[in-house]
Amino acid sequence: MEYQNILEEIHATLKNVPEKGTVASYIPELEKVNINRFGLYLLMLNKEEHGTGDFDIPFSIQSISKVLSLAKALHFTGADLWKRVDVEPSGNPFNFLALLELEKGIPRNPFINAGAIVVSDILLSYFSDPKKDFLNYVRELAEDDSINYNEAVARSEKATGFRNAAAANLLKSFGNIHNKVENVLDFYFYQCSLSMTCRQLARTFYMFANSGKNASGKVFLTPSQAKRINAVMLTCGFYDEAGEFAFEVGLPGKSGVGGGIVAVHPEKYCISTWSPGLNEKGNSLLGMQALEVFTTRTGLSIF
Ligand code: DON
Repeated sequence: MEYQNILEEIHATLKNVPEKGTVASYIPELEKVNINRFGLYLLMLNKEEHGTGDFDIPFSIQSISKVLSLAKALHFTGADLWKRVDVEPSGNPFNFLALLELEKGIPRNPFINAGAIVVSDILLSYFSDPKKDFLNYVRELAEDDSINYNEAVARSEKATGFRNAAAANLLKSFGNIHNKVENVLDFYFYQCSLSMTCRQLARTFYMFANSGKNASGKVFLTPSQAKRINAVMLTCGFYDEAGEFAFEVGLPGKSGVGGGIVAVHPEKYCISTWSPGLNEKGNSLLGMQALEVFTTRTGLSIF
């Protein structure tokens, strides 16, 4: 199939649409990004790759990092992790707090902020130098040592992350945070500030399409763990828009408020998009449209 042509057609059609959504501003540093950035990148399981637009410009991956922290935490704890975080879609925004009180400090899933904060807490208990060890893990997955945190973004979120502080304190009151709240939040903000290009993102997520092995065949997860993480991406990766993403695109995937999306077709390919304008649910407006056209044109969805 002419994947390069398909990506270029999608890019050409969507880049000129007037309605691009809104760049996230609740983390002030993210607001500085140019709303017209738009990149697409496709990495097939046989390593054939195609990119178009701004696919080599780094952006803040934000919540996409939650899949990577989950993968590492699951590797450390095995299935015990699911005693501290559930796997049900929440049907609510990523920063919604009321359910946490009702459900006694067990977050609905690892991708809402409360769930990801518990996962960060787990990593803090296992890593000796959490920020460095997590970065090394991500670099090893992608086989790319140029990947880094964006400290300005981390500091910007730290200065304004009041809802996350509320979530972490509530979790702590239920006994579901084991380390110091301040340290957990600091690590969580750094994790979310990871900066990657679409190309790096697809390479990092290759293992979810390849039963837990990265592009060089190194094992990071068991096939069963990779399967479960893909299932949680499908059901929870887009918060209160997870049903819509499954309906329109038909792939497990994860979004971030930096405007990135990565999606996986197990055993076939991994695709990433970046367009910083978000819809009202906090997911990239053009990214979702681009992926809908891609899976419809190619017929390559899991359904
Ligand atoms: O905790 C936050 O609010 C951000 N660091 C991440 C949120 C996010 O990316 C939501 N996804 N669309």
